[in-house]
Amino acid sequence: MQTWAIANQKGGVGKTTTTLCLGRALAEAGARVLLIDLDPHASLSHAFRVPIDPPPQGSHDIFLDEEASIEALALDTPIDGLRLMAAQPALATLERRGASQPGLGLSLGRALNDARMQYDYALLDCPPTLGLLMVNALAAADRLVAPTQTDPLALHGLDDMLRTADMIERSRRRPLPRQIIPTLHDRRTRAGTRSLELLHERHGRHVWPGAIPVDTRLRDAEALTGAAPVHSRGTEAYALAASWLLDSARTHQEAA
Ligand SMILES: Nc1ncnc2c1ncn2[C@@H]1O[C@H](COP(=O)(O)OP(=O)(O)OP(=O)(O)O)[C@@H](O)[C@H]1O
Ligand SMILES: [Mg+2]
Repeated sequence: MQTWAIANQKGGVGKTTTTLCLGRALAEAGARVLLIDLDPHASLSHAFRVPIDPPPQGSHDIFLDEEASIEALALDTPIDGLRLMAAQPALATLERRGASQPGLGLSLGRALNDARMQYDYALLDCPPTLGLLMVNALAAADRLVAPTQTDPLALHGLDDMLRTADMIERSRRRPLPRQIIPTLHDRRTRAGTRSLELLHERHGRHVWPGAIPVDTRLRDAEALTGAAPVHSRGTEAYALAASWLLDSARTHQEAA
């Protein structure tokens, strides 16, 4: 199983949409995929219409109970091959407990390791804050997939994210390969085109050569989480991004 952390410290750059659409594309290509919602706001779980009252079982349980198993906690979705570990609002309290509870930082990695035979890919939808949840996700991940909007402010946010990735890489003493997916791209604007050029100049081969366009069909969570395939410019771009990520994962494995 490969674990991809979908993360960016900047909010609203398309992390949750990227997690969902990449997960869908991988499942439609025949892979067994697990999506893990690590955001206390639970947008991904809402997209799948997971009821929140009472709170569902989910990712918070992994941090509380060291015997908790992903297999028992994951929920089926209408999409073949795609399962979801929902987020619970109590995740928000974890950052405070982290300091006083040794071992909490390893919980996610342990649970993912136990599930490695059941899935081909685990995609972690991270919250837009640098805290225990994001650190756990990056510590456990085989790669960082950082969606970034193509505007000048978002490029600064990406630099923060990459500095965090460097820090985690040093502390875990294992490379954390990173890939950048330009999102919400409007090629008709000068700022959009210029930001995309800058991304390529600064981060070269780490950047997917395409860009996910602004596409209103990607706002339709009901369709994106339904059983029927969704064909739109946005979903097709995500399928291409998924193939590129798979190719670069293969190249990286061969080089290792
Ligand atoms: N390519 C796109 N075209 C149009 N709308 C999009 C696209 N990508 C994402 N959106 C919309 O933009 C908003 C933010 O996207 P999303 O929730 O995926 O970002 P996020 O990075 O997960 O946000 P947060 O930091 O709050 O978790 C959502 O309303 C989503 O539907
Ligand atoms: Mg999100």
